[in-house]
Amino acid sequence: MASAAPPVSLPDEATLLRAVQAAVRAPSVYNSQPWRWRVDRKAGIDLFADRDRHLITIDSGGRDLLLSCGAALAHLVVALAGLGLSAQVDRFPDPEDSDHLARVRPTEATPTETQVADLARLAPAILLRRTDRRRFAAAPVDPHLLDTLVTHADRCGADLYVVTGATARTRLIETIARSASLQRQQAGYGAELARWTGRYSAAADGIESSTIAAGIDLPGDVPMRRFTAGRLRQPTHSLEHADASVLMVLSARSDDRLGTLRAGEAVGAVLLAATGMGLATTPLSQPLEVARTRDWVSEHLVGAAVFPQLVIRVGWPDEHAAALPPTLRRGADHVLLRKP
Ligand SMILES: Cc1cc2nc3c(=O)[nH]c(=O)nc-3n(C[C@H](O)[C@H](O)[C@H](O)COP(=O)(O)O)c2cc1C
Repeated sequence: MASAAPPVSLPDEATLLRAVQAAVRAPSVYNSQPWRWRVDRKAGIDLFADRDRHLITIDSGGRDLLLSCGAALAHLVVALAGLGLSAQVDRFPDPEDSDHLARVRPTEATPTETQVADLARLAPAILLRRTDRRRFAAAPVDPHLLDTLVTHADRCGADLYVVTGATARTRLIETIARSASLQRQQAGYGAELARWTGRYSAAADGIESSTIAAGIDLPGDVPMRRFTAGRLRQPTHSLEHADASVLMVLSARSDDRLGTLRAGEAVGAVLLAATGMGLATTPLSQPLEVARTRDWVSEHLVGAAVFPQLVIRVGWPDEHAAALPPTLRRGADHVLLRKP
């Protein structure tokens, strides 16, 4: 007679809520936090897209929204691993509800689950990660660290292309600048940007001005999205040296919502891994939000076999760079859905 399988031990609801609290530290476009969560001890944790927080001008197709939710999903899985839990992830579990992005079933991890231990190592980075829009140090990033980031993306089912060579970098920078100029001419762009940025310091969403560069200071040769009312100063003396940041393009392996969600998970994993290595990062979505510049990235950088989603700038923080404050998030009462 076959022996009965040992009962699966389910974590309590307070533990699941702690994991959700960590997951919402994920980056999101304009800090829009376009997610809703439902927590149930037996069913697990459900992640839904929040269409009310969709940025319809810059993100008409919903790519940034899905990437942001994917990043939050990756943060959730890492947070669960940090709590000693393994997670079974079912993406798009409900064919009748395309906004139901994932159902995550956490169970106690066994000591032999090396994957959980690997993910748990990323957990401390959840509270440390910031979007850093300042000039980075002049020291180059070692290629083996970039290879590790490529491996993290690959494990999530996405591609990370490291832009090498001065010509490719210059042309991508020109493409970012072109996308910014095309967006500024787009009807509604300025209004949407103004609605979500230059927020006062206690705002629980949107981009707060202390994280945006002040005046006309540039962080180096890579153009940042131009937000309003920046108060962030460049590190002392950093304008005297070159910024040795590396640009990378994260791409999906399929041109559909599943591919984009997985790419978002890769965004989360790559940013956490980079933070864990002590690197500073900036996600830059402008060149992929504009069809003409996205086509250029496809054709000239990543190739037709994958689908570019996000540019990520990575580098060593300047030695004089002050620690950035964490950007705020909406409280649990705003993001939690009631059980059905
Ligand atoms: C899909 C996506 C697109 C983003 N695009 C940009 C961008 O174009 N420019 C930028 O400065 N930050 C961008 N960000 C970073 C967000 O503005 C940032 O995550 C948010 O303001 C929260 O701040 P934090 O990352 O420091 O927690 C993007 C983030 C995500 C996930």
